[in-house]
Amino acid sequence: MTQSAVVENPLLEGLPKDRAVDPFAMVILGAHGDLTKRKLLPALYALYIDGLLPRTFAVVGMSRTVIQDDAFRNSMKEAIQKYAPDLKFEEESWNRFASCLYYRPSNFTEEGSFDELAKFLEELKDKHGTGGNHVFYMSTPPSLYEPIVTQLAKSKLVSKKNVTDKPWQRVIVEKPFGHDLASSLGLDDHLHKVLSEHQVYRIDHYLGKETVQNIMVLRFANGIFEPLWNQKHVDHVQITIAETLGVEERGPYYEESGCLRDMIQNHMLQLVSLVAMEPPASLEPEASRDEKAKVLKALRPIFPEDVDRCAVRGQYGEGYINGAKVPGYRQEDRVAPDSATETYAALKLTFDNWRWAGVPFYVRSGKRLAKSLSEIAIHFKSAPHSLFAGLTGLKAGQKGDDDQLSPNVLVLKIQPDEGISLKFATKQPGATTQIRWLNMDFNYGTAFGVRSPSAYERLIHDCLLGDASLFARTDSVETSWRFIQPLLDNWDLAKQKKGPQPRFPNYAAGSWGPAEADELIASTGHSWRRL
Ligand SMILES: NC(=O)c1ccc[n+]([C@@H]2O[C@H](COP(=O)([O-])OP(=O)(O)OC[C@H]3O[C@@H](n4cnc5c(N)ncnc54)[C@H](OP(=O)(O)O)[C@@H]3O)[C@@H](O)[C@H]2O)c1
Repeated sequence: MTQSAVVENPLLEGLPKDRAVDPFAMVILGAHGDLTKRKLLPALYALYIDGLLPRTFAVVGMSRTVIQDDAFRNSMKEAIQKYAPDLKFEEESWNRFASCLYYRPSNFTEEGSFDELAKFLEELKDKHGTGGNHVFYMSTPPSLYEPIVTQLAKSKLVSKKNVTDKPWQRVIVEKPFGHDLASSLGLDDHLHKVLSEHQVYRIDHYLGKETVQNIMVLRFANGIFEPLWNQKHVDHVQITIAETLGVEERGPYYEESGCLRDMIQNHMLQLVSLVAMEPPASLEPEASRDEKAKVLKALRPIFPEDVDRCAVRGQYGEGYINGAKVPGYRQEDRVAPDSATETYAALKLTFDNWRWAGVPFYVRSGKRLAKSLSEIAIHFKSAPHSLFAGLTGLKAGQKGDDDQLSPNVLVLKIQPDEGISLKFATKQPGATTQIRWLNMDFNYGTAFGVRSPSAYERLIHDCLLGDASLFARTDSVETSWRFIQPLLDNWDLAKQKKGPQPRFPNYAAGSWGPAEADELIASTGHSWRRL
């Protein structure tokens, strides 16, 4: 190794070495794309300035566009300043980081597209002391995942390895992991032809968010919640992932996808599994992944005849977001004027297991809703005897939060403000006993006063460490596709103009979704949280 060319990170001095990343080279495939600019390079730079990258590493960007190293470095510098304004950008640290950054153009569908890369990575092993450890980040259209893996194997850049083998080779796969059950199984078959499962890191950025990771800590590091976390004490669970955004420029993608594929099959079911899973035996990555897979298998299937009883789809019409008029989905750029694609989905999920028997999990997600907000709300059962009924302190006709016997609700706030809140009853000060419902709030931003790392920082760092806990494993992905497939089959018929057409649009932009979703949750005597 030519020591003089090795760029060391002085920020590493004095930092704990317990979770040290091996020297490595990361190859970003699709480096001229949106995700690289917005998320991947800002995350890598943040890890660098936080001293979480090793002393020696290299990053190689690749895509079709022909540019030189310096042009790539400059565009990444601009991107970091634009998309990660909360990072402490310093020319000095940037210059050190940028000297480990390279770009090589290539068309991944062509034979031998990685032969040059293989030689270059050998050079970097010497020049930057990468140790021959390689991570390939597939940030391309999903149709390229299979050709990329084939070509990487042909160029001898990846092959099946044992967990302890050095140097290591890992591949990060961006969602979507397939378009349906069959294509997802096909993709996994393809990946498993050339890679062992432990080398595959399927990224679901929701799992990298602080509050999502905190679900495990909240449940299993505290003694007070877990005894209540079951059908004896929980009445029902509501999970919401709401966006005010429409489809923006992603009309063609969304027409093929829809809310069920885009949000429910992946992010939403991953959140459900974290809330519902049993305690893992250890912090070993496979222990929590086993439990997540197990609980997803306990979801009661939605049979074709149950679809209308357990699921609601919606599509936004025109309306108002933050006071500004916005068009309906069918008027969006490159969307069919009679599109039957759902931009909203609400489901009632039921588990067939001891912990959750009889506890409905209501999940909803949609575009162009009234607020951008994601949260998990655990609604506990009301006190068994209503000693204080009628003492809510509300004046006649005044509307309170739920009813007088309002239950305790624990809310895990995922975005925009990460935190936890607990709703409980308290006595209003005064000579008489008047009950009011209050929230006890914990907010990450104010409690710790430090920048929360982005989900991509956490996930890239974990992958470099070889920790796959927060990545989706093949069996979980398959189970969630199996669960969702009957719904997809049913709803896709309408998209293909083969079945009855849904009465779309059925909710106005800026509202909280279709009335049918209120009826869905009302079927068990509940109502959606007013957010
Ligand atoms: N953007 C996000 O926030 C986001 C969030 C979650 C998941 N994802 C997923 O991440 C992946 C990338 O998304 P993106 O938004 O970055 O897409 P994008 O902006 O369309 O970028 C795609 C990249 O792939 C490259 N590419 C396409 N065909 C190629 C070929 N034959 N050979 C070599 N390079 C090729 C393009 O290179 P050229 O430009 O040089 O042609 C471009 O750099 C997708 O799977 C997406 O679903 C994205």
